[in-house]
Amino acid sequence: MAAESWSRATHGQCCGTRGMSAPNNSWRKLSRPHIGAGLLRNKWIVSIDDYRKASRRQLPKMISDYLEGGALDETTMRANEDRFDALMLRQRSMVDLRGLNTSTTVLGHSLAMPLMVAPMGMLTIFHPGSDPAVARAAVRAGSIFIHSAWAGCSLEEVAKVAPNNLWAQIAFWKDPEETASYINRARAVGVETLVVAGDVGSSSKRERDLHHGLSMPPRPPVADYFNAATRPAWLWRWLTGAQDDVRELPDQRPPAAHG
Ligand SMILES: Cc1cc2nc3c(=O)[nH]c(=O)nc-3n(C[C@H](O)[C@H](O)[C@H](O)COP(=O)(O)O)c2cc1C
Repeated sequence: MAAESWSRATHGQCCGTRGMSAPNNSWRKLSRPHIGAGLLRNKWIVSIDDYRKASRRQLPKMISDYLEGGALDETTMRANEDRFDALMLRQRSMVDLRGLNTSTTVLGHSLAMPLMVAPMGMLTIFHPGSDPAVARAAVRAGSIFIHSAWAGCSLEEVAKVAPNNLWAQIAFWKDPEETASYINRARAVGVETLVVAGDVGSSSKRERDLHHGLSMPPRPPVADYFNAATRPAWLWRWLTGAQDDVRELPDQRPPAAHG
């Protein structure tokens, strides 16, 4: 879901409405050309792999590596992906679908489907409007957005768009006052559920990030500066904090296939 919403924020104009009929003004809005949208221009983004390709087109390599990379040799990441790939959904035909219901409750909170948006820190590195955009997608899907303790966007800002679909991740910072203040802010915006991650005891060794010098202070190789320059739209947004106005964008699902 995160990917879906982020794509709406950044690739709103690249999802291929050019050459298609524009039934109303909102569709027409989508046909504006978009810098850096090359690869998937004129094509619908329909799969996770399409999102991956589109994000690589939009983001400098060091940023897409942060998004896609894992720790050490990425053995666990690959094993996780393999496990997901091995899962099969059993299809049943000729069944009565009238009672179909994917809703559930988690800790007393009703969800339209059994999925939530896991906390993701530094989403603003991909796009300045990422957190509210993903939170809006969660609202639209009847799900929950979990604000990361390391988010680049404040809890208050996300609460404006997802007041009833927001949980907050807390971290136990060295200064207990900081933790207490975050909990109070969460309470003040109406958050009822706090999330504590059972995290690793030290920073993970993310080798892709280390290669790029994606650390504090950052020391990226010179090649990365050139690479960032090849993504002018990202660079512009990163420097200016410019956010696309995604509130008015319609649902970008492609028309239903017939046949
Ligand atoms: C870009 C990114 C940022 C993340 N930031 C956080 C974070 O701030 N806090 C956290 O507990 N987990 C963080 N995670 C881990 C996710 O919450 C989640 O546990 C992990 O991605 C596995 O879920 P998935 O298989 O659906 O991706 C992050 C993951 C990604 C991809």
